[in-house]
Amino acid sequence: MKILIAEDHDDIRELLRIELENLDSTIKIEDVNCGELAIDMINSNDFDLIISDYNMPNGNGGEVFTYLKDRKLSIPFLLFSTEDPKDHSEFLGASQFKGILNKVLPSENKLKKIIYNAAGIDVPAVSNKYFKIRVGYFLRFNQTLCDVYIKISDDKFVKLLNKNNYYSLKDIKKYIEKKVNYLFIHEDDYRKYQVKFGDNSFLHLDKRKITTESKEDYYKSADLIIKDLILSLGISEEAIRQASQTIKSTLDIFNNYEKFHDFIENNLSKSSYQYDQCLILSHICHAISDNVFGTSNQVSSSLCAASFFHDIATIEPVNNLTDNSKSLLNLEIVDNELIHSKDHPNLGADILLSVSEFSTLASKVIRNHHEKPDGSGYPRGLTSETIDLASCVFIIASEYIEKLFEVEFDLNKNDKIIIDLQKRFKTGNFKLPLQHLITMSNA
Ligand SMILES: [Fe+2]
Repeated sequence: MKILIAEDHDDIRELLRIELENLDSTIKIEDVNCGELAIDMINSNDFDLIISDYNMPNGNGGEVFTYLKDRKLSIPFLLFSTEDPKDHSEFLGASQFKGILNKVLPSENKLKKIIYNAAGIDVPAVSNKYFKIRVGYFLRFNQTLCDVYIKISDDKFVKLLNKNNYYSLKDIKKYIEKKVNYLFIHEDDYRKYQVKFGDNSFLHLDKRKITTESKEDYYKSADLIIKDLILSLGISEEAIRQASQTIKSTLDIFNNYEKFHDFIENNLSKSSYQYDQCLILSHICHAISDNVFGTSNQVSSSLCAASFFHDIATIEPVNNLTDNSKSLLNLEIVDNELIHSKDHPNLGADILLSVSEFSTLASKVIRNHHEKPDGSGYPRGLTSETIDLASCVFIIASEYIEKLFEVEFDLNKNDKIIIDLQKRFKTGNFKLPLQHLITMSNA
C-alpha cells in the first residue's frame, strides 16, 4: 500500500512515518510538508491513501482535497488534524473523505484498522520482529535507550548500538554515506517506547555528553539535519526554500553584535557547541560582504545559501531500501575522495540553479568554492584574477573558519591564521575581502 503524508511539522511527520512504516512491510510512504507538493506528488504517483494535515503553508489540506474532487480522483483521504471536518464544507458528502486520524495516534492495531479500512484494503496478518527507523532521524539525538540493529539480509540483523550507549554524528553519517536508509529496533523495545508523538522516544539528546572530541561533529549537525530534510522530501524547491528561510533569519543575529570577537566568542563558548559551523560561515560571509558590497540583501542571502548548500551534492539521495548486504558488512568510512568528489561543486551549483528561490550568484559561489588564488583549485582552475568577488568572500570566510576550528576552537590562534591567510590570499580579487576580514578580526 502506498501512502502520501502531508504534514508541515517535521517531527510529527517523521513520527507518523515511523508508525506507518512499521505497521507492515508492504506499506510505502512518501511525505511532503505542504499542499502544493502534495498535489505534485499526487500527479506523479499512484497512492492508495492520502493522510493530510489541514493547516499548512503553501496549500492546506482542504485545497489538496478539493484538487482530488475537482479531478474526480478516487484516492481515499484521511484528515490528520485537530480540525473538525464539519467546519470545512469541502469534505461534506465527498466519497474520498474517510474521516479523521487524530494527531494523538491510537494503538498500533487500531491505527492499522483505520488505515486499511480507509484505503479499502483487507488488513494483512504480518508480524515484524524488527522495526525500522529512518537513519536520518538518529542525527537529532546522541543516545539510544534501547539496542539498535542493522539489517544484513531479510532475516539477519546485527546489533549496532547497545542500550544506553552514546553515539556520535560520525557513526550515523557513515551509514548515510553507505546508503543505509533504515536502522532497526526490536519489537519489544518498539512496543515499550511506542514511538509516539511527545517525549517518549527511544532516542535521547544529552547535551552534557557532547564532548570536546565530538564538538566538530555537532557543529555540522544542523547542516546534516537540513540535508536529511531535503533528502527525505526530495531536493525540492519547497524543501530548500524552507531550509533557506530558517538560515536567512539567523543573519539578523549577527547584527546584534557590535564586535566580531563578541559574536564569535558568545556563539562558540563551550556551552553552545551545537551552534553550527555553517551558520558561523554565513555570518562571517555576511559581515565581509556588507563591507565589500555595501549592505546588499541579495549578495548576503546568496552567500548564506552557499554556506548551507555548498556541499549538498556530497551526500547522495538514499532511494532504495535494499539490503546492501555486502557493503553493510564492510563498514569503514568511504574513501574521502569519493565523498568529496571533484564534481560536487558543479553538481551542487546545478541543484541550486534549478531552484528559483536562489539567485544565480548562490549557484556561482557554490561552483567556485574550491577554487584557489593560484589556479590549483577545482573544478575550473580559476585564478585570483578571474574569480568573482562574492566567491572570494566565501572562500576566505571558509578558510578562516576551517583554521579556527582546526583541532579545537581557539580564538588565540587568530593572529597566526590571519598571517597564513595573508600569505595565500593577498592577491587579485581576494585582496579586498581579506582586508575586511583582517579589520573585523582585529576590532
Ligand atoms: Fe566542498
